[in-house]
Amino acid sequence: LRRRAFHGTLVHALSLTDTEYLHDALLGVDEAGVIAFVDKGVSSDKVEERLDERGWAQAQVVRLAKGELIDTHVHGPQFVNLSYGQEFELLDWLDQVTFPAEAKFKDVAYARRTYEDVVDRLINSGTTTACLYGTLHHQSSKILAAVCHRRGQRAFVGKCNMDRNSPPSYSESSTERSLANTEDYVAFVREHCNSPCPPSSAITSSKRSSAPTSLVQPILTPRFAISCTDECLQGLGDMMDRDEHLPLQTHLAENPSEVEFAMSLYPGVASYTAAYDRFRLLRHNTVLAHCVHLSDDELDLIKARNSGISICADSNFNLRSGTARVTDMLDKGIKVGLGTDVSGGLSLGILSAIRATSTASKTICFHKRDSPSSSPLPAPSPDDSAVGPDGVSRPAGFFAQKHLSLSALFYLATLGGAQVANVDERVGNFLVGKEFDALLVQTAPSSSMANGSSAASGGAAGEDVFEDELRAALEGGEVKQRGEAFNPALLTSEDEAIERVFEKFLFSGDDRNLGSVFVRGRVIGGARPLSA
Ligand code: GUN
Ligand code: FE
Repeated sequence: LRRRAFHGTLVHALSLTDTEYLHDALLGVDEAGVIAFVDKGVSSDKVEERLDERGWAQAQVVRLAKGELIDTHVHGPQFVNLSYGQEFELLDWLDQVTFPAEAKFKDVAYARRTYEDVVDRLINSGTTTACLYGTLHHQSSKILAAVCHRRGQRAFVGKCNMDRNSPPSYSESSTERSLANTEDYVAFVREHCNSPCPPSSAITSSKRSSAPTSLVQPILTPRFAISCTDECLQGLGDMMDRDEHLPLQTHLAENPSEVEFAMSLYPGVASYTAAYDRFRLLRHNTVLAHCVHLSDDELDLIKARNSGISICADSNFNLRSGTARVTDMLDKGIKVGLGTDVSGGLSLGILSAIRATSTASKTICFHKRDSPSSSPLPAPSPDDSAVGPDGVSRPAGFFAQKHLSLSALFYLATLGGAQVANVDERVGNFLVGKEFDALLVQTAPSSSMANGSSAASGGAAGEDVFEDELRAALEGGEVKQRGEAFNPALLTSEDEAIERVFEKFLFSGDDRNLGSVFVRGRVIGGARPLSA
């Protein structure tokens, strides 16, 4: 990798309530892909001088604006059945739509072809880190991990365990096979999809834990309690006991019928969450998807185990699962990130997860407001404080008072996701020593602004100007054509404050605005990717 310096406006999350906009920032990415320095307030004409002082005269300079996005819950094989089965709720949708689509991945050639497209789309929709579910097939899941590895996608990739309550055509034949194939899969990914972070001048050894640094890592993936026998969950718990760096992902309390079914399998166990805990599956590197129907006790248990939650709001609307208690989770200090849950969710990329999460949180607000039975929320008391997942202390009940702010949403999509995936010491924002995972966001200014309208440039507005503009409006000719396919919804003007442009990008932007996608300093995709 060549040293690169980025100059321009950086946007990153510092906490749930603090989005930092660094204007005229100069950020250096070293040969390892690690952020070596971030200098603030460097004017354009001083960039070369500053790089000289740092001994970075040879670095390539890129001018920009950006962010970074992590998807904590995606199903690779389900890209193919995106949008199918709008009429179903979860359990019927799994039976009718999802399991038949996943069964096809028994064919490894089909898996290869499809996963090439899946990873390509994942990257180009701006996902820098993905927690991915494969299928129950360990060979096809190896292929998914291998494609991520080759493309430079940061990912946790899992092979599903499904040794009960699954259709005969899509079920594992025995618990022993399920566990043995999982062991084989984990060993394969660690050996063959290993891209450790090279030594970097910006990292002192004391700053990093001993956790593995490979971009692609295996993750245990018992699909959910319904599809795994006690012996299977016990076996996975044993694997975790032997290896503190082995993460796990699963689904929890997504839908009322699912919760009822799961509880019928564990008579005498206090809750769905407690069932997972019985097998020691809840710990710091556990990712729990959905978590829509959880009691306070269950949230407290998740907090006590330091597990993370992936909110999949788009999916929760489509499958009519409900709205998760995100603000309560934040008030309890639980780690929270966002997931698309493709194909439970209908759109690729974390931007759509941000929007759906925002809508869900507004929905909760108007339900609280309009429900005759709801008592008004007690105002947060400054004497009674709580620490959020971002480590910041706030009055208890702070987040439950209103819908999620832009800063909170951006945090959940970046640093929050990194916390849930346990990579927050490596990525999530632009602190020195972190690896450079980022999106170079490009918006096209409106044609009139790009052109410099005569009123703006000429100063004097009057009849002459009006005649000129009217003629241009009637006859055309003066309007500069935009050569590239920018997202037409995202029209910005040159004098628009960067904070407004950023808000517009989060709520109306799409993959056409993602010029380059960087993981560990490398350009791995984008609509107009910078050369490597
Ligand atoms: N629960 C178990 N499997 C699945 C799945 O594939 N998608 C969703 N949304 N929920 C699940
Ligand atoms: Fe899911």
